[in-house]
Amino acid sequence: MKIGLLGHGTVGSGVRKIVDEKNTKEISQLEISKILVRYEKDITDNRMTVDIHDIVDDSEIDVVVECIGGDEPAFSYVQAALFNGKHVVTSNKKMLVNHLEELLELARTRGVSLKYEAACGGGIPWMSNLDRTKRIDDINSFRGIFNGTTNYILSKMSDEGLEFAVALKEAQDCGYAEFDPSDDIDGMDTAYKVVLSSCKGFGVLANIHDIDIYGIRHISAKDIAYACKHGYVCKLIGSGVKSDSGVSGTVIPTFIPKQNIFATIPANFNAIESDSKTLGKMTYVGQGAGSYPTAHAVVQDLIDLVLHQDTEVSSGVGVHVDNKNRLSSFYVRSVNLNRMEDVIEERIDEDTCITKEISFVELASMMKVLEDNAVFVAEVMHDCK
Ligand code: HSE
Repeated sequence: MKIGLLGHGTVGSGVRKIVDEKNTKEISQLEISKILVRYEKDITDNRMTVDIHDIVDDSEIDVVVECIGGDEPAFSYVQAALFNGKHVVTSNKKMLVNHLEELLELARTRGVSLKYEAACGGGIPWMSNLDRTKRIDDINSFRGIFNGTTNYILSKMSDEGLEFAVALKEAQDCGYAEFDPSDDIDGMDTAYKVVLSSCKGFGVLANIHDIDIYGIRHISAKDIAYACKHGYVCKLIGSGVKSDSGVSGTVIPTFIPKQNIFATIPANFNAIESDSKTLGKMTYVGQGAGSYPTAHAVVQDLIDLVLHQDTEVSSGVGVHVDNKNRLSSFYVRSVNLNRMEDVIEERIDEDTCITKEISFVELASMMKVLEDNAVFVAEVMHDCK
């Protein structure tokens, strides 16, 4: 199977190395015939080109692997590849979420596959196992640590007392963070993965703007110390729940009891749990970011294609995400705490409190009242389940 590889950065170079090494009989059936790089100066191999037409218009290429990242030009390149009847494997969650409906429809009408295991959960076989679980069960809910960068930062802050900025710099140096790490620390990257998991797991196309998203940009040593003192570990958790009343989706730092499996997930690892009728709760743990783990997931998709073990192309119906029935209590640190007296359950000190049980919709309204750009919010998970 001939592959055109778009991008030779962190993930693309990992894919090139794994495929070129041909360590297994499955990989021996793959051949990278062309590689798109950005500039002439980046050309280090006679397969490299700076012209996308050398790949999407090459009738010998069966599958295009997109590892450029970002929205454009990745979207136009993927669109052209699908239109020309080539399968596409991508690790690009942002581009997928921005154009999911259109791309799934294009793949369906052109009779090709659009595969994106690497876009969600890094090296963890999460997407393919959602497909497998769905052969027997409906997925009721999922939740997990979907972002390696923030897990790395939070682990370093909790375990080694590192400052936020120092831990972020380390995560960037390891190649975990996005080009603009705002997507990681503000929770958008996790939200993209919640949308992709909802599509695969629930068969719905969720609008990312309906998801309640809280990040870790403003977390401080004080918040970490409070969590630790009360038997919690702080993790950034993305989740989705499907019920008779619809679908909900949230991304929020969460104080998790130390005994819970999510509290034990180290470094850049991800951990994602699905809940379904006969399988019950099932948790997948592995490296969620980095060159080789993510490239591994890309190459698994390629091997599925070459072995014709492709799972059904997922499709989804548009759905309104509604979090009014998602109730919890929250840790809030804000200089304007006096503006939310009516929902405070326990005052910790002048700028921190634990709220009464309120919905995510009420929490969002409260954020508007607070008018505090540096507010930090965490959900408090009271039980270990
Ligand atoms: N920046 C992402 C992360 C890369 O840290 O998880 C993998 O999607």
